[in-house]
Amino acid sequence: MKTRSIRGFKDILPDTIKRWHHIENVAKETFERYGYGEIRIPEIEFTNLFARSIGTTTDIVKKEMYTFTDLDGSSITLRPEGTAGVVRAFIEHSMHLKSPVTKLYYTGTMFRHERPQKGRYRGFNQIGAEYFGSAVPYADVEIISMLWNFLKKIGLSQKLQLEISSLGDESSRPAYMELLVEYFTSHADALCPDCRRRLETNPLRILDCKKEACTQIVNGAPSILDSLRAESREHFDTVKNGLTLLSIPFVLNPRIVRGLDYYTRTVFEITTDQLGAQNSVAAGGRYDGLVENLGGVSTPAIGFALGMERLILLHEIQFPGGFSKEIDAFVAHIGDQPRQKAFMIAHILRENGMRVEIDYEAKSLKSQLKRANKLGVKLTLIIGEDELKKGTVIIRDMELSEEKEMDIERVKDLAFEFSS
Ligand code: HAM
Repeated sequence: MKTRSIRGFKDILPDTIKRWHHIENVAKETFERYGYGEIRIPEIEFTNLFARSIGTTTDIVKKEMYTFTDLDGSSITLRPEGTAGVVRAFIEHSMHLKSPVTKLYYTGTMFRHERPQKGRYRGFNQIGAEYFGSAVPYADVEIISMLWNFLKKIGLSQKLQLEISSLGDESSRPAYMELLVEYFTSHADALCPDCRRRLETNPLRILDCKKEACTQIVNGAPSILDSLRAESREHFDTVKNGLTLLSIPFVLNPRIVRGLDYYTRTVFEITTDQLGAQNSVAAGGRYDGLVENLGGVSTPAIGFALGMERLILLHEIQFPGGFSKEIDAFVAHIGDQPRQKAFMIAHILRENGMRVEIDYEAKSLKSQLKRANKLGVKLTLIIGEDELKKGTVIIRDMELSEEKEMDIERVKDLAFEFSS
């Protein structure tokens, strides 16, 4: 029986990795322009970090975490997201003492035991950014505009929608919850069994239910934006004005709940209609209470994470082809002795900066030229018994279909001319 990967986990093959590199590079370049520095955090943390931050009643903590007992008996979990670990690192390294604001970004694999489908995996990659130390709404606008600029730079913003809402602060939440519970209790009979349970444990989450019966009831539910207290309303108004000032298009969606409990005030999602049910490409929000809840000095914060696999799927739709790995030259050989020379030529070219491919197994020149064509190389170098005797090599320009013979000693210069 052939070995295979675990369901929900995917290999990323060389054919698509160029696209990954491109998107990651644009993200890094963009984020660094806004003063973000990269942080690398462990893939694994104590389980209670996620329970305390994401929330014990959320689907992620209740059903989706890869949790193990370590050899010393402690409970550890493969990170289902990056924010909790970054906040843990922020506290552990007393970053609040080093500068008034701290801006961090990260990339890496996250793990959630969800039902796999297109755009939804058990091992998936995020690029995330977290901004610590400012409660001012301009910080919200700045981080959202950074995300939007990045999406613009990779050519996807036209296909995406920015949705925003506010969850209010802790003081406005109870009044809204009361209204919500009252409303859903009066429709309890029509709710799905899960939502009837959520009515007891976490009524906000009902707003997120995708079952048809529930969405109809949800459509008539009171809007959280009508329950915001003055301060949260002002904060949200400034965020909306700031986005308008920067010409960033957005829609209000008061049904954004988010699957994590740490959010306060501004929440946002970047959605698409091109990936079926998995419509969220990026998401985030403000989490002013989390640092303190995890034992740190009270520090307001806001952040987001992008789903790389979903971005890649969209990027492939928008820009098909053109992102495969690139090879500059192919070295072809005819005969045993020429093969040894070809092997040395490939080595010299690579040492001098060219991307070079050679096929040691190849028998005929025809099959080697076919391979060179398939790779889309610009040059093919050919060496046979005749050339070996003369101390030359044939250089074939694949675009112009022209050939010239060159002294083998000049191969290094060729690499130099090619790279400059
Ligand atoms: P999240 O909404 O759970 O937020 O995930 C962010 C993004 O990760 C989603 O919009 C989606 O693109 C991608 N994603 C989530 N689950 C999967 C999956 N199973 N397969 C593929 N892609 C997925 C967070 O993780 C928060 N930490 C974001 C944040 C940062 N909030 C504040 N700071």
